[in-house]
Amino acid sequence: MSNRPIGIFDSGIGGTSIFKEIHSLLPNESCIYLADSKNAPYGNKTKKEILQLCIKNTEYLLKQDCKIIVVACNTATTNAISYLRKTYDVPFIGIEPAIKPAALNTKTNAVGILATKGTLSSQLFHKTTDLYAGGIKVIEQVGEGIVPLIESGQLNSKRMVTLLNYYLEPMVKADIDHLVLGCTHYPYLIPILTKMLPKKVTIIDSGLAVARQTQAILQSNDLLNTTDSQPSISFYSNGDIEVLRTIIDNKFNSSFLDF
Ligand code: DGL
Repeated sequence: MSNRPIGIFDSGIGGTSIFKEIHSLLPNESCIYLADSKNAPYGNKTKKEILQLCIKNTEYLLKQDCKIIVVACNTATTNAISYLRKTYDVPFIGIEPAIKPAALNTKTNAVGILATKGTLSSQLFHKTTDLYAGGIKVIEQVGEGIVPLIESGQLNSKRMVTLLNYYLEPMVKADIDHLVLGCTHYPYLIPILTKMLPKKVTIIDSGLAVARQTQAILQSNDLLNTTDSQPSISFYSNGDIEVLRTIIDNKFNSSFLDF
């Protein structure tokens, strides 16, 4: 049993989509969320740069006595999680594009994946795709420009709609019936994507799977908080805290921190 907090980090505000799933599954758990918005996007950085940022975020969270770290970022997971697991003595949960369920369920034999350059070029992504999507047409698309728009509060802008139309067109032409969201910022686009895509396209977001995995690992390590103490939830951003506040419940603490 442990009432120490769960540490969560992302390159910015996207990982709050993962926090929301974790909080709804594990409402008793305290959480500290780091939005490294100052360094967003991670997706165009080198593996070495991504690794250094992940080390910085992890060490900050470990100083706050976190019992587990959720890497709420596909780009960070695919490039850095094996190093983090080897280096630090706490469990790490990561998130990877959910190619497997898309490949298993496609009827048109074509699936789309929207993710960052850092994720799509990672070894881990290629390994997963080779393993589960052999014989299936996988239309990969780098979501260039999407994260900066979300980070600057332009989620519902015209520019976003134009970009998404451009990225989705080849996928729709290829007759995809599943779209995998390979970046934790993208679940915030689901209302726009649903309007744009043909009805038969299922959008796959792995937030709930990550929350369930967090629960399972806490349980198997005897780290769940089984007391009924009030959880403490804090969000920190080293970027524009007001943008973060537009997407989280205002009952949570949120502040600027130059970590
Ligand atoms: N939320 C991050 C991810 O899941 C965004 C990556 C970025 O900062 O480019 O990949």
